[in-house]
Amino acid sequence: MNLERVSSAEETRRAVAEARREGRTVALVPTMGALHEGHLSLVRAACERATYVVVSVFVNPTQFAPGEDFEAYPRDLEHDMQLLEAEGVDLIFAPNVDSMYAADATVTVDPGPIATVWEGATRPDHFRGVATIVTKLLSIVSPDLAFFGEKDYQQLQLVNRLVRDLDLAVQVVGCPIVRDRDGLALSSRNAYLSPTQRAQALALSSALEAVAEAVAWGERDADVLRETMLRILSEHPDVSVDYATVVDGTDLTELGSIDGPARAIIAVRVGNTRLIDNAAVAPSAHEE
Ligand code: PAJ
Repeated sequence: MNLERVSSAEETRRAVAEARREGRTVALVPTMGALHEGHLSLVRAACERATYVVVSVFVNPTQFAPGEDFEAYPRDLEHDMQLLEAEGVDLIFAPNVDSMYAADATVTVDPGPIATVWEGATRPDHFRGVATIVTKLLSIVSPDLAFFGEKDYQQLQLVNRLVRDLDLAVQVVGCPIVRDRDGLALSSRNAYLSPTQRAQALALSSALEAVAEAVAWGERDADVLRETMLRILSEHPDVSVDYATVVDGTDLTELGSIDGPARAIIAVRVGNTRLIDNAAVAPSAHEE
């Protein structure tokens, strides 16, 4: 079974229709390429659950603000294809910008209030771009299952809402964060870090671990948890904090106390590189 590569929506629809005629279950893994083990964990989960796996590779311009790293974003389609072939992926959909967006395209998907906080506060149009491209990809591929990483936790919650609120016929599967051995969450943007910056970036996972530990010791006050994270982050001079807080795991509203499943979320800048990370905070799980 060989990996097929297509670049148009039409070819994708045709290939997926044929797979459906063969009675296959279709999965989509949307990516922006520069694939690493984090992406591949989604691909492996997709291969376990579906019999026809489509991976899209598209650096989506509408989710980057002017001045962000759209141009600099790492691209290596040949290498991505080798990795995906080795995983047994069936189809790679790698369109170009012009074929995805008509020059006079004006209709977008409104992501609602979840897009105005945290990542959305710093990146105002980011989630409109994500909501629009994810809707387009789901429309083109019409998969049974679509796989997203918890690494981009707010994005995952947005996609859950998008699918629910627009009645899209797809099951969203969230996958756990893949980390390097030292704890740094894998990200294509880690490639921008110098060795010194990379060492400083470990502040994110250290802060999240400290929160998990504090909750395990019975801490329920979200202010204390926020201070714990900020203290650890501030010990790293190259790290400038955008936010570090504890939120409801579904609607991402900030919490005062930890009474149920919650999420600790962090965004920082190390030099010019913006890094995000998060972890589940669940009192009951730790109390048992
Ligand atoms: P990208 O950053 O390429 O990520 C593609 C998918 O891989 C996302 O669902 C992301 O959460 C997941 N991922 C990245 N790093 C991960 C890690 N360390 N562990 C687990 N999963 C990880 O997210 C996007 O692209 C785009 O916004 C996209 C959804 C493709 C829309 O353009």
